[in-house]
Amino acid sequence: MTASRPSAITIDGPAAAGKSVLGEKLAQRLDYLYFDTGVMYRAITWLALQRQIDVTDEVALTRLAETVRIGIARPEVNDGRQYTVSIDSQDITWEIRRPEVDQNVSAVSAYEGVRRAMAAQQRAIGIRGQVVMVGRDIGTVVLPEADLKLYLTASPEERARRRWKEIQARGQEADYQQVLEDMRRRDKIDSEREVAPLRPAEDAIIINNDHLTVEEEVRLVERLIWDQAV
Ligand code: CDP
Repeated sequence: MTASRPSAITIDGPAAAGKSVLGEKLAQRLDYLYFDTGVMYRAITWLALQRQIDVTDEVALTRLAETVRIGIARPEVNDGRQYTVSIDSQDITWEIRRPEVDQNVSAVSAYEGVRRAMAAQQRAIGIRGQVVMVGRDIGTVVLPEADLKLYLTASPEERARRRWKEIQARGQEADYQQVLEDMRRRDKIDSEREVAPLRPAEDAIIINNDHLTVEEEVRLVERLIWDQAV
């Protein structure tokens, strides 16, 4: 690859579209930082539930988002994690994947104050460059000047099947129909919210990966990077 490869790559898209697996692989190959912004919204949601803060209390949630320090570090445990997430030195990497977090995270992340606090931290990291940043509004709001913007998508059924398999791989019980319903509900809230709704940036490249393997998708994106660089 040439020296003029993109310095920031954004990957947005609905739940379980494969953003994190693509993001991590691209970051590895480019030697860039991989940053999954969904983790921050999940961490706040987990903390709010822990502290029994009402998930409709925008003021309290905003205060929480403005003060909490979420740690995201390279994994030091070999249990399939991409990174270690912590709050006040408590390891919450798997806690933030629990069903109650899934059920509440979209409501919490719809609040303007919560988003403002999160997006500011994300942008501060993104503008340093050499980053692959993954989320819902990265190409549209957080890093609109990024030089390569991807929007990943796949059918709801395929995405639910992937999520269902992930949950089972963690040794937990999951009902496919329930996973599909929860995912649709979350996508709807994420797409219809007023602040930073889920949608492709105007200059995003949309990739439907229903029929692509991860390897094929990585190769496709590498070709895009190559074409852009020459
Ligand atoms: O892994 P999955 O695609 O299921 O979700 P995630 O990327 O971990 O994001 C969890 C939730 O956080 C999403 O459903 C959104 O409500 C919210 N989120 C957001 O609003 N903006 C982002 N940049 C990233 C996540």
